[in-house]
Amino acid sequence: EICKGVNGLDKVVLREVRGSSAEVYLYGGHVTSWKNDHGEELLFVSNKAIFKPPKAIRGGIPICFPQFGSHGNLEQHGFARNRFWSIDTDPAFPTASPNKAFIDLVLKPSEEDLKIWPHSFEFRLRVTLGIGGDLMLTSRVRNTDGKPFSFTFAYHTYFSVSDISEVRVEGLETLDYFDNLKGKERFTEQGDAITFESEVDKIYLGTPTKIAILDHEKKRTFVLRKDGLPDAVVWNPWDKKAKSMADFGDDEYKHMLCVEAAAVEKAITLKPGEEWKGRLELSAVPSSYRSGQ
Ligand code: BG6
Repeated sequence: EICKGVNGLDKVVLREVRGSSAEVYLYGGHVTSWKNDHGEELLFVSNKAIFKPPKAIRGGIPICFPQFGSHGNLEQHGFARNRFWSIDTDPAFPTASPNKAFIDLVLKPSEEDLKIWPHSFEFRLRVTLGIGGDLMLTSRVRNTDGKPFSFTFAYHTYFSVSDISEVRVEGLETLDYFDNLKGKERFTEQGDAITFESEVDKIYLGTPTKIAILDHEKKRTFVLRKDGLPDAVVWNPWDKKAKSMADFGDDEYKHMLCVEAAAVEKAITLKPGEEWKGRLELSAVPSSYRSGQ
């Protein structure tokens, strides 16, 4: 179902039989909503989000491509998040089972894009809402150019949490990371699950495929599974940084956490004709439930 979202921008609404739903804006190929079968919103979108090009939507799941962060010549996080994607009528991709709701989007570079990043590509994104309300994103990037290219990538997921100081992240203990707040040095995480009491902007390297975000107050656990994406970025701007962002409320940092499935440390290189695939699967389960590996 395609309809008009904020500022008349086109969005696709996915619904699953038991009542969960998701929304995807063609602007950015951007998931802006994921609701469980009780109608509870699981993603954070800022009340101050600007749904207007060239600004990327603050919240949901921005796609960072072909550059994560500011490690390159492109604008921060690349340009995929502020381009208009199209509905892919020729996904050349096995169809999902008929009782799953999904949408296929595609992004190809414009003449202008080729001036800033001179590589021809086809980026296909499938967003699927599974039977239990799980949300799956599959990205496939194909090199349609005559020469190789390299890129970095992230699903910049903003999770909605009740109180950041009550949240724990499991699965990143003892890993090496870069700290964007501290320069180029490599650190090693010590000890227990990760908790939050100040600004965090870290890139964990070579993480397990499964990461859990435990929201104690909400009694909810987000389980993130990823494939083709070795790294994980963890970001919360905290109070000072929040105040400096025009499209983010001063106190909103308390109710969000970004955990981003990413490929940052080692860029992905594609030869002409080659394709890369990166998958993210999100589920939200009551905290008492333990899914094991
Ligand atoms: C994170 C980066 O992924 O995104 C941070 O690690 C950055 O450094 C944040 O501040 C938000 O970026 P932007 O461009 O959406 O404001």
